[in-house]
Amino acid sequence: MAKVKIATTSEVSADKVLKTKANGQSILVAKVGDKNCAIANKCPHFGLPLAKGKFENGVITCPFHGSKFEICTGKSVEWVDSFVGIPLPDFAQKMISMGKAPTDVACFTVTQEGSDLFIDA
Ligand code: FES
Repeated sequence: MAKVKIATTSEVSADKVLKTKANGQSILVAKVGDKNCAIANKCPHFGLPLAKGKFENGVITCPFHGSKFEICTGKSVEWVDSFVGIPLPDFAQKMISMGKAPTDVACFTVTQEGSDLFIDA
């Protein structure tokens, strides 16, 4: 792993995620409180990108099937509860989850030097 610059502090906000790259890997960065946080832009359900999902209170919602992840920990806080934004009944949630158990998204520790932000990737 190598330390990779992912953004500057002025590019990161609490209102939306910033999509960036580190070693060819797509990364999402946002600010939660006074902390800069980063996760992989890859939903652990089907590996689809999270970047266009709703971001609110430090949690991003996968735009495909509604799984929700904390951007500061990668923790899965909701797993497959909708289809392109339409809520699903329980039996359909089980079908769409395809037997996959709730899984956290890869999370990175963000370090800061001056106004530059880095992760190990
Ligand atoms: S791809 Fe993200 S919840 Fe299915």
